[in-house]
Amino acid sequence: METSKLTVDLGSRSYDIIIGYDFLETLGKQLRALGFKGKLLVITDENVFPLYGDSCMKGLKEAGYSAKIEVIPAGEGSKSWSAADKLLTSALEFVMDRDSGIVALGGGVVGDLAGFVAATYLRGVAYVQVPTTLLAQVDSSVGGKVAINHPRGKNIIGAFYQPRLVLIDLKTLETLPVRELRTGMAEVVKYGIIRDRSFFDYLHEHLNPSLEQEKDFYKHIVYRSCVIKAEVVSEDEREGGIRAILNFGHTLGHALEAATSYKHFNHGEAVNFGMLLASRLAHMQGILDKESLKIIEEMLFRMGFKELPPGLTAAEIKEGLKYDKKRRGEKLVFILPEKIGKVRIYTDIPGSLLDRLIDEFLKEFK
Ligand code: NAD
Ligand code: GLY
Repeated sequence: METSKLTVDLGSRSYDIIIGYDFLETLGKQLRALGFKGKLLVITDENVFPLYGDSCMKGLKEAGYSAKIEVIPAGEGSKSWSAADKLLTSALEFVMDRDSGIVALGGGVVGDLAGFVAATYLRGVAYVQVPTTLLAQVDSSVGGKVAINHPRGKNIIGAFYQPRLVLIDLKTLETLPVRELRTGMAEVVKYGIIRDRSFFDYLHEHLNPSLEQEKDFYKHIVYRSCVIKAEVVSEDEREGGIRAILNFGHTLGHALEAATSYKHFNHGEAVNFGMLLASRLAHMQGILDKESLKIIEEMLFRMGFKELPPGLTAAEIKEGLKYDKKRRGEKLVFILPEKIGKVRIYTDIPGSLLDRLIDEFLKEFK
């Protein structure tokens, strides 16, 4: 498979996203071509390390780099002060200087944490993203949001700090558990709904519920998703405006995650429900026509919905909405579709409509 390249256009901080198949070992060469000179600290997790640690390190060593690898426990718990602290200590012990760089080899957890370490070590060293989950390939590795969690909220401590390169090896998706593939697919469908009707139609025609698809399908959807994310980030790097549309389905999705203490759903499962609820809200408010809602619902139901935990209440979901980062004072911010391929930001949704939406949802899925 030929590699494809696109650019996130951010002036002097622009960078390429390279998408290919089975080319992880070329990372060292690509970093040389970019002018990386110093030592490299590779950060990965305990699941990714046995699968891809060797080929990553081999490529770096062959290109003449002095590289060290750090393996963190898998899972959201690693986006913590203590994990960041250990990695910063490791960077110091490895005597990394300002020419040194960091490689994030893994899913969104590794990418967000490694990016945070890169943003803070010596006030910022270069880093590259090598995403190995679908979610990281289509979303978290692009756009420079890096963060760790605070016990009171996700992604509270962080920065906008762009990588120098994103290298996406589609072969890594072959070892990804299907539940993780599904979580990334929710973000892929999101891009179609928010910005690209023909991409949505492609997914509508080709996506099968098992997610067992041809390589070319994955290449196309990862490429198209990255194009859309790159365009949005280039227009509004620090989320002063349009970047917020990437949060379609995330307001109510996050509320569901928070209401279930982040234990019941993974992110994509919650976002899938969030997109359903936001689309229904748009229809109830007279923004989205019935036929478009039907097509969106058909797509989301095809991806499948996880059952709700027993006893979940409307009050718990509404409590979860309180911590939405987009909230402006008392006003909730919703990204709602006006048609497939176009969304807008709304701040004036009546509370009574939201109550009805949540009540009907709980009845239908209980
Ligand atoms: P993750 O990093 O936890 O990865 C999911 C699981 O898959 C982990 O167990 C991991 O070890 C395993 N894994 C990774 N690659 C694998 C592979 N190729 N084969 C087999 N197993 C593999 O989760 P995620 O869904 O990739 O990322 C979620 C994180 O991303 C959250 O912390 C979220 O806040 C963050 N995020 C950030 C942004 C952003 O813009 N920075 C956007 C969306 C999400
Ligand atoms: N994942 C949302 C963003 O990058 O803005």
